Amino acid sequence: MESSIRFSEQLLQQFRQARHVVVLTGAGVSAESGVPTFRDAQTGLWARFRPEELASPEAFRRDPRLVWEWYAWRRDLVASVSPNPGHLALVELEKRFPVFTLITQNVDGLHQRAGSGARFPVIELHGNLQRTKCFEDGQIVESWDENGELPPRCPRCSGLLRPDVVWFGELLPSEALDAAFAAAGACDLFLSVGTSALVEPAASLPFRALAAQIPVVEINPNPTPLSSLATYVLSGPAGELLPALVQALWPASGDA
Ligand code: OAD
Repeated sequence: MESSIRFSEQLLQQFRQARHVVVLTGAGVSAESGVPTFRDAQTGLWARFRPEELASPEAFRRDPRLVWEWYAWRRDLVASVSPNPGHLALVELEKRFPVFTLITQNVDGLHQRAGSGARFPVIELHGNLQRTKCFEDGQIVESWDENGELPPRCPRCSGLLRPDVVWFGELLPSEALDAAFAAAGACDLFLSVGTSALVEPAASLPFRALAAQIPVVEINPNPTPLSSLATYVLSGPAGELLPALVQALWPASGDA
């Protein structure tokens, strides 16, 4: 289908000339799949909690069952939704450039479910909801005794189990972070999609690219702290703009 969205020729040229493209994604990319963003109000059962009050080691120590159940609810929510056209367009981009790095702050695994990571592994800065680890020593745990106790216990040390995600006040996985900053400083084009560009250290990635004179494209329906400095700002939803971009760059490829 022919898209009515138009991109500047200069922007399209940047893509055509690029050998290495880096994309940083945030919760906005999953919004059109029905996963609420962090700064959206929580709904239903969990409306009275702020994510910051649930996603921290202190919250887990205070009430481990509450935190475990919140993540179980989020896991079920994510399992019930599907990747959207924005995720699929990023799969298409991965196929088209000699080098492509997808860095995500999302823990929902929707990029991988869409098919991203086939050529270049997705860099998950904040972990993944589907993985579980021991709260005591951080070791990944694949299975445990389902005896009704919540959270379940680590089969090795009997410590409490928790999701393998980065909580407020915790360090990001250093290998992922180093790879993300190296890519941001060495690519030809950097896209920041669906992130409020507020939460460090991920928020610094586009600025690393700008400092290296690398053009930065922002896709977001709302302005962010990056907007006034980005080389190009495309204002609108990722699920519309990313497929339209793929269509504009490779008209013969059909809908992404
Ligand atoms: P936020 O919830 O902070 O921001 C979501 C961004 O997506 C906002 O800027 C929205 O304007 C934008 N947005 C909404 N709908 C969109 C759409 N359809 N297309 C494109 N953009 C859209 O989420 P993040 O920036 O991902 O950290 O938040 C970063 C981190 O803060 C999260 O990973 C999480 C949170 O605290 C941890 O859990 C450690």
